[in-house]
Amino acid sequence: MRHLIDPTDLTVEETERIVALAEDIIADRAKYSEACKGKKLATLFYEPSTRTRLSFTSAMLELGGQVIGFSDANSSSVSKGETVADTVRVIRCFADIIAMRHFKEGAPLVASQYAGIPVINAGDGSHAHPTQTLTDLLTIKREKGRFDHLTIGFCGDLKFGRTVHSLIKALARYEGIEVILISPEELRLPDYMLREMQSASKLAFREVRTMEEVMPELDVLYMTRVQKERFLDEEEFDRVKNSFVLDPGKLAAAREDMIVLHPLPRVNEITREVDNDPRAAYFRQVENGKFVRMALILTLLRWADENRPFERTPVFGEEYLVNEQVCPNRRCISSTEDVDQLFRRHADGTCRCAYCEAKAR
Ligand code: CP
Repeated sequence: MRHLIDPTDLTVEETERIVALAEDIIADRAKYSEACKGKKLATLFYEPSTRTRLSFTSAMLELGGQVIGFSDANSSSVSKGETVADTVRVIRCFADIIAMRHFKEGAPLVASQYAGIPVINAGDGSHAHPTQTLTDLLTIKREKGRFDHLTIGFCGDLKFGRTVHSLIKALARYEGIEVILISPEELRLPDYMLREMQSASKLAFREVRTMEEVMPELDVLYMTRVQKERFLDEEEFDRVKNSFVLDPGKLAAAREDMIVLHPLPRVNEITREVDNDPRAAYFRQVENGKFVRMALILTLLRWADENRPFERTPVFGEEYLVNEQVCPNRRCISSTEDVDQLFRRHADGTCRCAYCEAKAR
């Protein structure tokens, strides 16, 4: 059974086929209007969402399928203490495919172990957001025409920004990618990602403290919101919340063909005046999210019918350890639910939780 839990669960070729299918859907939507007739998508959202949940819903409806689910865990038996594993064992009786968003890192991976139907990670804590990555890749393809030889600035909350983590992982498989990380010290990319980028990926990267110093170099500027809901300390949030604001003055130094992406929602990190600049691609990016989710739903349902095996080639060589370590991350699903403690040993010698990628102590 194939799922999408991490962007690298799809090979580069599979990813590009899904993006190409999304482009075909855009070119001829009528052709796909009954492609999922008789199928049901369950959207299990334990955390707020506008774009992801509604674009999944819209995607399934445009494919002729139906949608069930919840948008607030308090309105489901989760509020009575039902586990992720039991919840999805129930949902499989009612639906053909699941899209799950959860505040705990690794919850969709747990769901995939028990569901017996395809599970899509619609965002887990500050860990990963692979369907936003597919959205970003489709947008980059449509706006820039390629996935390789790009200089991409990631700006803002790189610590908690799950969309950044997932997109960097996906881009690390292409030639000629240069990543420029623009963040305050407190919001740097997590150590495990910096180590991966240093030791085992093709991409070049560097860290800077202002967007102004790199603006003329960029093909893509990927802005992010400072994720207030992930901070354990409100004073720390107050210190960094206004770190980066993109306005027309800063954008003036950018290339004419640079694009500005943002997974949204935004708060104050892009001023309203920037919206009128043709380089502001973030609302076009939202619409691409629906088309790429249509392509993903179609693909995973087809693979389920074919009983297609998992083909992922690990990017970073790895082997599994079970119940020999305990994950130290309080945000990990393994800290609150009774799951196997599952660890991957990576090529660089580190041993990391399979659910949230925290390093074993
Ligand atoms: N980009 C994104 O995940 O938006 P939502 O939180 O509104 O789903």
